[in-house]
Formats: sequence, C-alpha cells, structure tokens
Amino acid sequence: MVTKKEQTYLKDIATTFKERRVNSVVGEILQEGVKPTPEAYQKAIRELTHANLRLRQLDKAKDEFISIASHELRNPMAIIKGNISMIISGDTGTINNEIRDVLTDVMLAVERQIRLVNELLDISRIEAGVINFNLNTAIQMEQVAQLLVNSLRSVTENQNVQINVTPVDGSLPPVQADHDKISQVLINLVTNAMKFTKKGTITIETRQKGDDIVTCVSDTGPGIPKQHQNLLFKKFSKPASESAGTISAGSGLGLYISKKYIEKLGGDIWLEKSKPGEGSTFCFSLPIPGSKKAKEVAENIKSLQPIKEIHFSSQVK
Ligand SMILES: Nc1ncnc2c1ncn2[C@@H]1O[C@H](COP(=O)(O)OP(=O)(O)OP(=O)(O)O)[C@@H](O)[C@H]1O
Ligand SMILES: [Mg+2]
Repeated sequence: MVTKKEQTYLKDIATTFKERRVNSVVGEILQEGVKPTPEAYQKAIRELTHANLRLRQLDKAKDEFISIASHELRNPMAIIKGNISMIISGDTGTINNEIRDVLTDVMLAVERQIRLVNELLDISRIEAGVINFNLNTAIQMEQVAQLLVNSLRSVTENQNVQINVTPVDGSLPPVQADHDKISQVLINLVTNAMKFTKKGTITIETRQKGDDIVTCVSDTGPGIPKQHQNLLFKKFSKPASESAGTISAGSGLGLYISKKYIEKLGGDIWLEKSKPGEGSTFCFSLPIPGSKKAKEVAENIKSLQPIKEIHFSSQVK
C-alpha cells in the first residue's frame, strides 16, 4: 500500500504537472485500497521523467526567447532614444514647444520600454542562474546614496520632493556587495518612493545592526494597504498602484529583482512599515566584510561555475 507520505508526494506531483498522462498514472497508484503493481510504479516513473524533461525544455525555451527578444529590442530603442534626445536638445535645428512636449512624452515612453527590457533580461539571467556578481569589500552605502541623490537632483527639484541622506559623514563600516547591483536596488527603492510621493520628503538612512549595514528608504507617499503588502516582492506585482489611485509606470519587477540580488549578496530586503496616508519605509541589509555571512557569500560566489551566457539558438535541445 502507498504510505501517507508517498500519497502526499504523488498528489503534489500530479497538481504540479497538471498533465493528463501523469495524472492518470498517479491516479492509478493512489486508488483507494489497491496495492500498486511494480509495473504501475515503473509506468509512473517513466511518465514523470518524461514530464520533467518536457518542463525543463519549455523552461529553457522560455529563457532563450526572453533573452533573444530583449537583446533585439534593446538596440533599436537605444537608437530611437539617442535621436529623439538630439532633436529635443536642438542639435538638429530649432523646434517649437509643442513638438518638444510631444517628443518628451515619446522619450519617457522609450525610457520605460528600455527599463522593461532590461528587467526582463535581468530576470531571465537570474532564473537561468547565469548572473555574474563582482564582489567589492569597500562599498560605503552613504556614498552610494549621496551619488544617487546628486544624479536625481534635477528631477526632484521639478517634482517638489526633497531627498535627505543620513548620516552623511561616512562613519559606518563598508559593506561587501556588487556595486552595480546594489545601486540598481537603491535606484528602484528611491524611484518607487518618488513615483508615489507627489510632494513631500524621501529619506535614505543607513545604520549598523550587528554584522550588517541596513539601508532604509522612507517616503511620505500614500502608503500600501495591509492586504497588498505580501504581494510586493512578487513578479509583475503592482498592488498599491490601484488602491492609491496612482498608475505605476513600471512593470512590477523592480522589487522582485532587488530581492533576488540582495539575497544572493547575503542580505535581506523588506517592507519595514507602511500605513495608508502616512508613507512607506523599505529596508535592505548587506553584510560587513569579514563577517560570517560575508565569508559565506564570497565562498559561494567564488565556487560558482564560470559564467556561461545563454545559448542563442531557437532550437530546444
Ligand atoms: N514607496 C512606495 N509607495 C507605495 N507603493 C509602492 C512603493 N514602492 C512600491 N510600491 C508598490 O509596489 C509595486 C511594485 O514595485 P516594483 O518596484 O516591484 O515595481 P514598479 O515600480 O511598479 O515597476 P519597475 O520597478 O519594474 O519599474 C509598485 O507598483 C507599487 O504598487
Ligand atoms: Mg520600481
């Protein structure tokens, strides 16, 4: 007779695969009061192996498709962006304000598209396990924050939003991380805060907590209702946008990608607090060089196989 544990396992498999053939062989084994024959087990193993292989092939095909599509879309969009930017700045001759406004809208749409394509490319790399991390042990989080704030100054001035960084003196220990990846995480948190804070203050605060440096981004925006909070870090999830009456121009991938990066770097990312009408605080932690976690991450990343890019063939092998 099939044991309780085996029953649960087989039911899980049947639910996961949702394939008619797999379901029918699993169903045979699970029949009440019937002792499955060795042939039934053999058949189930064959069908499950086949289904497993098929799923892997489909998964690989999906990753390859996203990679190819992203690459092919990125280049023409960069050309469109470059040319529009030249026209807007008057390099190709004088244009009137009406044309400038229209082209500025086109430019924003192209930038949104480029961001989406980059995010899809990141996700396909994360999921294919071919993402490369360059560890650096001297990253000062206050400095990363300050650089970001400086680069956003013109946008924040236009938007009536003030951004503060504390502390400013570089008194905290550095973190061990990948500079580009954590900049991307911080950019996403700050641009999220800006997207939802039409007027008010955004604060980037760094502090030490044991062997970690915790960086928090707080805003005075609309906040996120409790029932939506557990969806935030899921792929394509934009839960707060509708309830806050705000249309997020993003695609709901930033927090998902950030979580993957931060976890790989030995940290954590979370929503510290958020209340409708009172704003939100998102935080992430990163290990200090030499700490137990930092050593584990360094070991882990060193022992990864040499990075192989996804093979661009349309044929599933
Ligand atoms: N500071 C915030 N205030 C209110 N809602 C937020 C805030 N940060 C995130 N959210 C909610 O979480 C969702 C997911 O954020 P995420 O960064 O993953 O995606 P996005 O900003 O919509 O798009 P992307 O980052 O891919 O461009 C947002 O669409 C929004 O609904
Ligand atoms: Mg975002």
